[in-house]
Amino acid sequence: MTYRQHPVAENRPVRVAAIGAGWIGNFHAESISRRIPGARLEAIADPAIPAVEALAGHLGVTKITADPQDVLDDPDVDAVLISTPVRFHSQLTEAAARAGKDVFCEKPGARTIEEIDGAIQAAEAAGVVLQFGFNRRYAADFAAARQLIDDGAVGVPQLLRSLTRDPGTAAGLAHPERIAPGTIFLETLIHDFDTLNWLNPGAVPVKVHAVADALVAPQAKAGGLLDTAVVTVTYNNGAVAVAEANFNALYGYDVRGEVFGSAGMVTAGGPQASSATSYTAAGIGSETVRLNVDLFHDAYTLELERFVEAVKARRDGLPVSGPAAPGGADARNALAVALAAWLSADTGLPVDVDSIAELRPAEAGIQGLRALNVAGAGA
Ligand SMILES: NC(=O)c1ccc[n+]([C@@H]2O[C@H](COP(=O)([O-])OP(=O)(O)OC[C@H]3O[C@@H](n4cnc5c(N)ncnc54)[C@H](O)[C@@H]3O)[C@@H](O)[C@H]2O)c1
Repeated sequence: MTYRQHPVAENRPVRVAAIGAGWIGNFHAESISRRIPGARLEAIADPAIPAVEALAGHLGVTKITADPQDVLDDPDVDAVLISTPVRFHSQLTEAAARAGKDVFCEKPGARTIEEIDGAIQAAEAAGVVLQFGFNRRYAADFAAARQLIDDGAVGVPQLLRSLTRDPGTAAGLAHPERIAPGTIFLETLIHDFDTLNWLNPGAVPVKVHAVADALVAPQAKAGGLLDTAVVTVTYNNGAVAVAEANFNALYGYDVRGEVFGSAGMVTAGGPQASSATSYTAAGIGSETVRLNVDLFHDAYTLELERFVEAVKARRDGLPVSGPAAPGGADARNALAVALAAWLSADTGLPVDVDSIAELRPAEAGIQGLRALNVAGAGA
């Protein structure tokens, strides 16, 4: 038998380095390695070498290092995934951008507006892709809710709600003293702030009022712990949003969103593991999800798929198709709300978001420019 030659388009994989091999870094590295066609895990960097060795062994990666600079210097690395603690996010993003690498950075993008501006400017100057880990946008139910909003199901948004209840146990938080002050706003509720901003398309958050306490671990309050919070966010289109969080939901990992408006309401999320439900003498029951990597397994994978597509498009000089991934302006807006909420909880007073930072429109193009214009006119 003689084979005929069949021409195929060149399909070089996008070569990605994982910076940070902890909880979420492990999941992302595995996604790149096993779940995303067209991507290849080229190297892993983390000063915790035993963690790197375990991950590299598991995924068959040969290039490992304790120093992220090594992967930034590696010409065989196209893009990096930053999954380190937040204090390294902006400096690593800047260094990666300067090295010409496309960047996916976990949330929050930075600790301050100054830091995130530095990261955004470095990415813009280098012309690299910069995407942030707001995975809820990629969850099928949240994405469907946004589509319904775009299709007019809600009309003009009036009330929004987003909540995060982290899974817990009857014993409470294991090491509350190790949770850094501000975590509930900067690491947890930042997801809710991005979700609310995104589910109120074109609107800009203007005022924030937060109440927070240590109700799960009151003994750690003196050290700065806040484990329970409610935040109202007022938008320049008049809509009022409520975000709430608690670190110890005994029944599982509970993430929900809701938008109510002049034409109706959409909801998304919930802790049920599946629609299987038991009806017995004891009542009605469902299994619940306990881990973020279970609840958001597909969303975490899809966001990286989207990132890899964007890296490929930049490499091949092609336009990126589909809706914009959460980028610098989105991360900056969510961070500004988180910082305003933290300040409000601290002072007990409402905080104007633009006293934290002059916001940029979250959505590029004319829609975003109009939103900014409305914000300016209404202020
Ligand atoms: N999107 C989400 O739902 C989600 C979920 C979990 C975590 N996160 C975010 O991901 C980030 C990491 O969280 P985690 O839970 O994986 O933390 P983790 O503590 O499990 O892992 C962090 C890892 O970073 C490594 N590290 C520290 N400094 C480093 C450096 N300079 N260079 C390279 N590696 C370094 C540590 O050794 C550790 O292995 C945080 O910003 C967190 O908010 C996001």
